[in-house]
Amino acid sequence: MTAPKLSLTTTTADEATADAVIIGTVQDSAGVALAPGSERVDAAFGGDLAEILRTVGATGKQDEIVKLPGMGRIPAGLVVAAGLGRSNGDGPTAEQVRRASGAAARALTGTRRAVTTLSTVDLHAAVEGTLLGAYRFTEYRSDKGDAPVERVDVVAPEAGAAKEHRATLKAATAIAEAVRTARDFINTPPNDLYPATFADRAAALVKDAGLSVEILDEKALRKGGYGGLLGVGSGSARPPRLVRISYQGPKARKKIALVGKGITFDTGGISIKPAASMDEMSSDMSGAAAVVALMVLAAKLKYPLEIVATVPMAENMPGGSAYRPGDVLTIYGGKTVEVLNTDAEGRLILADAFVRACEDGPDYLINVATLTGAQMVALGRRTAGLLGSDDLRDRAAAHAKATGEGGWPMPMPEELRGDLESKLADLANVTGHRWGGMLAAGIFLREFVAEGVPWVHFDIAGPAFNAGGPWGYTAKGGTGVPVRTIAALLADIADNG
Ligand code: BES
Ligand code: MN
Ligand code: ZN
Repeated sequence: MTAPKLSLTTTTADEATADAVIIGTVQDSAGVALAPGSERVDAAFGGDLAEILRTVGATGKQDEIVKLPGMGRIPAGLVVAAGLGRSNGDGPTAEQVRRASGAAARALTGTRRAVTTLSTVDLHAAVEGTLLGAYRFTEYRSDKGDAPVERVDVVAPEAGAAKEHRATLKAATAIAEAVRTARDFINTPPNDLYPATFADRAAALVKDAGLSVEILDEKALRKGGYGGLLGVGSGSARPPRLVRISYQGPKARKKIALVGKGITFDTGGISIKPAASMDEMSSDMSGAAAVVALMVLAAKLKYPLEIVATVPMAENMPGGSAYRPGDVLTIYGGKTVEVLNTDAEGRLILADAFVRACEDGPDYLINVATLTGAQMVALGRRTAGLLGSDDLRDRAAAHAKATGEGGWPMPMPEELRGDLESKLADLANVTGHRWGGMLAAGIFLREFVAEGVPWVHFDIAGPAFNAGGPWGYTAKGGTGVPVRTIAALLADIADNG
């Protein structure tokens, strides 16, 4: 679905030619109040806008959308009041602006042209929220329904130069587009998106962005000794792939390895999953989707970094040629793993990818994976678990908070390492108990990170996929988390090393 076209405007909202004007409302002790940026529109209504909104029952709470007719007071036919929630005294936060902008964009489906004042509070957040809120995936519907809002004029903030505003609009648009790209991959059903087609689509996309890409097919994987990926992929009629994408930025300061789990469907394999909600396992390639989208973003924003993505793709199926509990796989580089549960497949394909990625001698290793159900038990469905080296993990957690995507640092308790001992191989792929499942997975992965490479692993089992209804700027289905967090982390590394 095409994204709305956003452009900066210096025309004030009360004078803009548009079908709708978006203003913010906040919840305060006296009831609904107007957010900054709505002053001119309020003046056009004789200063009565808050009173009118209160009368029709507006409260200013998060995700609330109240529509009022323009009544000829402004050129636009409609005022859309988007709730920002409770204000903390310093004005609305970026995440409040992002969510309100997202909710407003969703409410404007079928509208041609809107103008938003939320951008005067936080331009970057308003742009991201608008583009993400307007996202819909209608590829497989005969009746596409109303189109997303076609055009949104964003009122420039008073502070700052026009040049800065243009740069902000460009960066925020590119970031939101990357999130939308990740969502598209995640939402594409597994009969159309399987390792070979995922690899081809990813390659086409990154080539368009000017990047170089290499795809290892099953033959190349056998030759290379990628035993994790081959083992996991063996039950499927659709053989695995390993995609390697390289970006060489101008004056690159650091070398980054990105890895993302690309299980295009996870049945659990011979250790098969229950039927309930198994369809959601089509999102088990969300880590890979994020990494591919981030490579396109890197090319667009020209980070002064060298980035190499290593993306293992496989379908985890039961079948006559499937790998089985009891098998021993030899991971790329030679370590052996006893498979005790074929549903702990993500760590096996990531092990291959980690070893390969570390051969390039990266300064940092960043991994994204829908790795464990235990992540959701620990942190719920919207907060990613962050594991790895203390410093990089905590740095990533700070960005997860700032971007509003969410994420929390988790430990890797040493006693769990012993539980991964195998009776015959170097290690087992599961502990044999359910305690600290997310942490045990992290400890397993750590075995495949080269000595001295700072590393962070995002377990996004919950946050990758929204099985419920839309909220804020989050659509149903693939969310694109943690594209924005990693974009922020990359920008931070580019600036600060
Ligand atoms: N892809 C799943 C994890 C997952 C579960 C993601 C639910 C999103 C929603 C992963 O491959 C898996 O099956 N993990 C197992 C590991 C266990 C066998 C140690 C799990 O979490 O149950
Ligand atoms: Mn699994
Ligand atoms: Zn999985």
